Amino acid sequence: MNRRKLVVGNWKMNGLRAQLGEIEAIGALATDHPAAEIGLCVPATLIGAADAIKGAAFIGAQDCHMKDNGAHTGCLSAAMLAEAGASWTIIGHSERREDQGETDADVAAKALAAQAAGLKVILCVGESLSVRDAGDAENVVSAQLLASLPEGAAADWLAIAYEPIWAIGTGRIPTMEQVAAMHGALRSALESCIGSEAGAMRILYGGSMNGENAAELMAVPDVDGGLVGGASLTAAKFAPVIAAAG
Ligand code: PGA
Repeated sequence: MNRRKLVVGNWKMNGLRAQLGEIEAIGALATDHPAAEIGLCVPATLIGAADAIKGAAFIGAQDCHMKDNGAHTGCLSAAMLAEAGASWTIIGHSERREDQGETDADVAAKALAAQAAGLKVILCVGESLSVRDAGDAENVVSAQLLASLPEGAAADWLAIAYEPIWAIGTGRIPTMEQVAAMHGALRSALESCIGSEAGAMRILYGGSMNGENAAELMAVPDVDGGLVGGASLTAAKFAPVIAAAG
């Protein structure tokens, strides 16, 4: 199965209008690398301005509420994010699962809400260091994926990101064997749930991906791209990651 590589920057709580030049430069990088699909998930405050200068990149959000509207002070619905200019959103990032207590059921509900509003979704899963050290990471993350998977999951609107929590922002990454084993396990878990559609669904790696390790990581079987935090904050750092994707 030939899956187009997907490389997405996750700016987290970083970025003011002063950084719009970086977004424009990243959009130009995407234009220069049409073989891969390139996106940038920016703070919601920047979505509109980023959308205007995005080149061939897509602009995404980093979360959405599971409800369409209502008394949820400070929250944003998927339709609001889509109207602002987002075409994708991250759902279930480990920082939200930990900091906001999002459950697998919340993640599935949010993914469905996003799809209903026309957003594509990057659904994140990943294990803690204690789970990795206990030797049970593949089983735990496969179960987390199946519990978080929304109804009607399909490759044309959903991608998975495997992000070991202990690798996020630490400069530490799993061995290529560990990455291959996990991505293979997640592909099998998807197959058990959505059958042959699993072969078309992209499974990204995330956690300290950078210009030095991206080519090696993206050459691992079943690694279909990356979700990139720190190394996506400037065009100069993101350029070699995008180049590694094609
Ligand atoms: P990192 O973050 O690349 O800075 O480790 C990745 C992520 O959390 O999506």
